[in-house]
Amino acid sequence: MLTDSYGRTATDLRVSLTDRCNLRCTYCMPPEGLDWLPKDDVLTDDEVARLLRIGVTMLGITEIRFTGGEPLLRRGLPGLIAAATELDPRPQTALTTNGIGLARVAPALADAGLDRVNVSLDTLRHDVFEKLARRRRLDDVLAGMAAAAAAGLTPVKVNAVLMRGINDAEAPDLLRYCLDHGYELRFIEQMPLDAQHGWRRDDMVTADEILDRLSAEFDLAETDAATRGSAPAERFRVDGGPATVGVIGSVTRPFCGACDRVRLTADGQIRNCLFAREESDLRPLLRGGATDDDIAARWRAAVAAKLPGHGINDPAFLQPSRPMSAIGG
Ligand code: GTP
Ligand code: 5AD
Ligand code: SF4
Repeated sequence: MLTDSYGRTATDLRVSLTDRCNLRCTYCMPPEGLDWLPKDDVLTDDEVARLLRIGVTMLGITEIRFTGGEPLLRRGLPGLIAAATELDPRPQTALTTNGIGLARVAPALADAGLDRVNVSLDTLRHDVFEKLARRRRLDDVLAGMAAAAAAGLTPVKVNAVLMRGINDAEAPDLLRYCLDHGYELRFIEQMPLDAQHGWRRDDMVTADEILDRLSAEFDLAETDAATRGSAPAERFRVDGGPATVGVIGSVTRPFCGACDRVRLTADGQIRNCLFAREESDLRPLLRGGATDDDIAARWRAAVAAKLPGHGINDPAFLQPSRPMSAIGG
């Protein structure tokens, strides 16, 4: 088991498969991209598969989420999904993607054993998409979501980050679109994790603001808090249900007390929190002949040292040096 000193157990492993991306969302990275990880530093498929096995069979991981950067850019993704779902006990598997290219690969991912996908979609307008993501790919994303649903990768969840004056007025349209298509929309408060360190608290569209804006057009009813568990999203039934909309209020409504996550970066670092200031490097162990027990012990120690929360609201908060794109959402 991966337990920390605050009584939390990490059962949800979030695996970043690459730090690269084919979009350039303004709240994530600059137009020119970033200094990508050197190829040799990125774990091989076999190395990732070994860690998945150790996590599931020795450390109590029950859910594996593949993230990036953009995880569909990783050629070995179907093989890694298959490696995960062949483990005993079989973990739940999910993918968080920007949706580009998903239309083509959704059936193969489902065949490999993927259970479900979360797709990022911040706008339904081509001009806003191009401004926000610096690429003209909205239609690809929408097609990807539809293909995922058709392939049974459900529930398809949609993540939207709202930015004041850019896409915040679109919140009701995004919800209507997702209701019409049977997708579960969640609005996310922007966190200080951008590569440019440009996050400003005053610019952030808060959970309260999002709920106010939606309430003007929809009847929202809180769902039973007991069913939330460790989920980041607070869910609200829309117009009597059964459909729901979620709000992920990481900054103004932190949920760290119930956190069950641990992260593996593409270069083999265990991060016990999105905002961790320290990482635990498994790569030298993997490449230096360490046993599974050695690796499991280093991993346990990394989780044991987890802090109680992200600290964003502390006056002394310092943004981690690794940006979201290199940690995994
Ligand atoms: P499911 O609802 O089970 O699909 O998981 P999820 O919501 O964690 O998945 P996803 O990868 O789609 O994450 C959605 C958003 O939740 C991310 O973009 C983050 O903004 C936020 N988030 C995910 N994990 C964490 C976390 O550990 N801490 C915080 N503060 N926010 C997180
Ligand atoms: N704050 C909140 N969410 C973010 N995402 C990317 N950067 C941030 C940030 N700074 C979201 C993406 C995607 C998910 C993986 O993380 O929009 O939906
Ligand atoms: Fe867990 Fe850190 Fe996310 Fe809080 S910010 S929910 S502790 S990973």
